[in-house]
Order: sequence, then structure tokens, then C-alpha cells
Amino acid sequence: MKAIVLHQFGGPDQLVVKKTEIPDVKPGHVLVRTAACGVNYIDIYQRTGLYRVDLPYTPGLEGAGFVKETGDGVQGYAEGELVAWADCPGSYAEFVLVPQDRLVKVPKGIEPQKAAAVMLQGMTAHYLSNSTFKLRSDFTCLIHAAAGGVGLLLVQMAKRIGAKVIGTVSTAEKRTLALEMGADHVILYTQQDFESQVKKITDGKGVNVVYDSVGKDTFFKSLNCLAPLGYMVLFGQSSGKVGPFDLTVLNTKGSLFVTRPSLFHYISDRDSLQKRAKDVLNMVQKNQLKVHIAQTFSLSEASRAHIALESRKTAGKVLLIP
Ligand SMILES: NC(=O)c1ccc[n+]([C@@H]2O[C@H](COP(=O)([O-])OP(=O)(O)OC[C@H]3O[C@@H](n4cnc5c(N)ncnc54)[C@H](OP(=O)(O)O)[C@@H]3O)[C@@H](O)[C@H]2O)c1
Repeated sequence: MKAIVLHQFGGPDQLVVKKTEIPDVKPGHVLVRTAACGVNYIDIYQRTGLYRVDLPYTPGLEGAGFVKETGDGVQGYAEGELVAWADCPGSYAEFVLVPQDRLVKVPKGIEPQKAAAVMLQGMTAHYLSNSTFKLRSDFTCLIHAAAGGVGLLLVQMAKRIGAKVIGTVSTAEKRTLALEMGADHVILYTQQDFESQVKKITDGKGVNVVYDSVGKDTFFKSLNCLAPLGYMVLFGQSSGKVGPFDLTVLNTKGSLFVTRPSLFHYISDRDSLQKRAKDVLNMVQKNQLKVHIAQTFSLSEASRAHIALESRKTAGKVLLIP
């Protein structure tokens, strides 16, 4: 089969196409023929070595595809059935061996590309808005990179809850998209000072929560956007790592809370994975969650997909199609 292999950390050109053996089916695992692999920002952190993985490594954590074969002890999966996953390393490949407890069934009517597009980013938007900080209809949230993969899904989930949504984006096209997905206000943070804009929109009160995946460029100003007792949810670092800071700042800025969560802690057991995936996939099935696929690339073009995502050229989901 064809798979992408990373032999050393570095730029997108380190993602090399290789011919390898189809994995042997192991007990408790399901061999899946991949229909679509999700590209996520974490794949970039792993490729550059910011998040360490053992090399050689086949990147990709997410995908959807059709059951090819099941290992001993696996029950309930039929050959040809459509399944999806969000935390199985080695997903940039034509076949992926997924542990049974990390796999979910895709409800009828959802195409493989849509399923692959919402597993990791959809469950992230889900835990951020329901568990890390439970949004309410009387709350206002600030979502950075609101037209990104997670961003567009989080905007929609926050609006379904009834919260007021302020988004930030870098371009007018991304602004239009975030507004289409329901954001109430979208700030062009590359041209406008988002802190003063947020103050203006909220009549000086600030927001109850900031969902910040941009990190270095937005973190400290975002603290100034929070109302007293507000929550700073730092869940990514697309612009770079946030440096150390004096915790007293949280006191002086209004007894603020800060957290740095990861999806993998919110789907660590089978029940939480099943419940979150089911909620997200049901929303897609009922057309309550629109899936915006930014770009698809062939599996061999993984490096091009990384370049597109890193250079802020994409809005919504990036997929590789084997
Ligand atoms: N902790 C978790 O559980 C978890 C789970 C999933 C994803 N994440 C994080 O969430 C973030 C979004 O992931 P995603 O896969 O959905 O990516 P994405 O949002 O589609 O892409 C990243 C976006 O970040 C913005 N950005 C701002 N400054 C940037 C810079 N210097 N370089 C590159 N991008 C910049 C860009 O939007 P604009 O052009 O509009 O600025 C860009 O489109 C990532 O930081 C990722 O690590 C965290």
C-alpha cells in the first residue's frame, strides 16, 4: 500500500510517499481501507518535532473508511461498513489498523469525506463548548481563527447553544464564511485591534470565554478581552508557543481562569469517545452542523496539504484522499 512516512523532523518536504506492507490484522483491531484522511494542525506540530513522535512515523490521526478485515475478539463490525476515527497514528495511508475501542460507526447518509472532516475538529469543538467551558445562551465567547477547521465548527456549536459569538480571522473571505456559519461579529485581527473591537462590541464588559488556538500572537491581548471571572481556553498555538507569565496577572485582570486542554483527555475512555462522536455525527446527519471542506489533496500530495494549512490559505477542513 501507499503511505506517507516521516524520517526526520522538518519542513513539508519531509513527508515522503512510500510503498509499504498492508498492516497485519491484530486481535482487537480493525483493518480499514481509508476513504479520506483528515489533516490537522497537530500533524504539523508532529512533523516539525514540536510534539515528539518516534521516527520513522506515518503521520495522521484521523480518517474514515470501509472495514476490510477484523481481528480476533472484534465484534459488531461488518466488512464494507463505513467507520471513522480521530486518534490513531498512521492515518496518512491507504489502510489503517485501528484499535476497536477507538473506532466509531458512521450513521447512514454521511459521506466518508464529511465523516473524516468532523472527527477530530468536531469533537474538539464539542468538548470546548460543552465540557471545558460550558457555554450558555446568556454568554459571549471570542473564537480566534473562526474560519479554521475547528473554528467554523465551534462557531456553529456555540450558536446552537445560543451564545453570542465574536470571531477573529485574517481575510475578508474568511470573515464572510464565519458570518455565514452564524458568527455575530467577525473581526479582521490582521487589520483591526481585536481587543478594542471586543470592548466596543461588548460595551466594555468583555467576554465570558476566549477560545484561543493561535497562541503567541493573541494570548495576552485575549486576557484583556475577558470579563471578571472569565475563562481563557488556550487549545493551540498556530502562531507559536505562549511564553511563561506571572500568575498574578490573572488576579489583576479579574480573577481569571486559564486552561490548556487536549481532545485526547476528553475522549480517553470508550464511553466519552462514543458519546462525543455520536453527538457530532448526529448533528451532521441532521444538517445541524455544516461541514466546509476547504481543499482535498491526493495522499501523495500530503506536503502540499501541509503547506496550504500552515500558510493560512485554508478555511475549514483539509483532507487527503488515497
Ligand atoms: N487542544 C486540542 O484538543 C486541539 C484539537 C484540535 C486542534 N487544536 C488546535 O486548534 C488549532 C486549529 O487547528 P485546525 O487544524 O483547525 O487548523 P486551522 O484553524 O484550520 O488552521 C490554523 C489557523 O490559525 C490561524 N493562524 C493565526 N496565526 C497563524 C500563524 N502564524 N500560522 C498559521 N496559522 C495561523 C489561521 O487563521 P486566520 O488566517 O484566520 O488567522 C489558520 O488558518 C491548532 O492550533 C491546533 O493545534 C487543538
